Amino acid sequence: MVRVAVIGGDGIGPEVVRAGMRVMEAAADDPLELRFTEFEWGCEYYLEHGRMMPEDGIERLRGFDEIYLGAVGWPTVPDHVSLWGLLLPIRRRFDQYVNLRPARLLRGVESPLANPGNLDVTVVRENTEGEYSDSGGRIYKETPHEIAVQESIFTRRGVERIVRYGFEEAKGRRGLLVGATKSNGISITMPFFDEIFNEVAREYPEVEASLMHADALAARLVLDPARFDVIVGSNLFGDLLSEITAAVSGAIGIAPSANLNPEGAFPSLFEPIHGSAPDIAGQGVANPAGAIWAAALMLEHAGHPKTGGRILEALEETLASGIRTRDLGGEANTEEMTDAVVERLGG
Ligand code: NAD
Ligand code: IPM
Repeated sequence: MVRVAVIGGDGIGPEVVRAGMRVMEAAADDPLELRFTEFEWGCEYYLEHGRMMPEDGIERLRGFDEIYLGAVGWPTVPDHVSLWGLLLPIRRRFDQYVNLRPARLLRGVESPLANPGNLDVTVVRENTEGEYSDSGGRIYKETPHEIAVQESIFTRRGVERIVRYGFEEAKGRRGLLVGATKSNGISITMPFFDEIFNEVAREYPEVEASLMHADALAARLVLDPARFDVIVGSNLFGDLLSEITAAVSGAIGIAPSANLNPEGAFPSLFEPIHGSAPDIAGQGVANPAGAIWAAALMLEHAGHPKTGGRILEALEETLASGIRTRDLGGEANTEEMTDAVVERLGG
């Protein structure tokens, strides 16, 4: 039995999570039994209760095997309040320090690039420290001398473990790893990142490893994404670069995101890479692919790789058959695309 906590969240979050749950149910056969428990937390909950989740929210999630999330954020609540009230504390409290974001050209999906080549790249993003810190503050508020300072926190343990994960990931794939740096401009944390990257590299002679400045890397991802295998980066760089890899593989609605606690001491969290998309929420047109792919990764992580593989195959077949949402140039709505995937799974 896999016990899954489901947080649909805001905007298109609940729409795509519903699609993912239908697909998982259709794919689950003996001996896989799924038990979903839904939590209606998010911006509506905030407007009613003054917080994004109950005070004991983290404790309530702790006992689950996995967490499946839609998206968090809505225009009625400032983004830093909503995200720091729900998604970011979950990533941190459950030490989900690896954010794994695969992107590849699924059959039937066109890249916006003229020459995407054989695009198949995974971004390994640090997920608990770095530029996303709540250390800092503002002084001389609302005067012309106002100053805002936010510190980036890079720990040896934090950098080393994510870099090592990047090397392991590359070792299991094509053996190429690029570290995203910016040590030409950011003179303390980035040389520190580079130093640790080079130290860990010595343990992996079989991996072809190099460092690239994140700005040049961003350009390369647009010009020649097929040359990349695995990219490891800090919290912010990993976020930005994985949004590019998602976009060049078709659209951001396709890509999944696995927030992993590799030691298994806490539940991991699976979600699509995209946000709550207020511009299309409630219209039933959101692309469910990212949430469905995330569901496949979640079942794989829960020890059911065959079921996960069948889900991804059914998704790819559906897209290849021409059933696509409008962000991919198709005409299907969320439900029609989900129906097609469910049907392929024999549901
Ligand atoms: P977004 O990802 O929500 O939307 C960006 C654009 O992509 C929009 O035009 C949207 O319509 C489109 N899009 C996104 N997902 C789609 C899908 N599945 N199908 C079709 N089109 C899709 O990014 P944003 O507009 O910057 O953010 C909106 C809100 O979501 C903000 O509150 C933001 O903080 C939040 N957000 C949350 C997460 C998360 O929960 N992990 C991630 C990103 C953004
Ligand atoms: C993501 C999102 C979040 C992040 C935001 C909404 C805080 O962009 O899941 O990538 O930056 O981690």
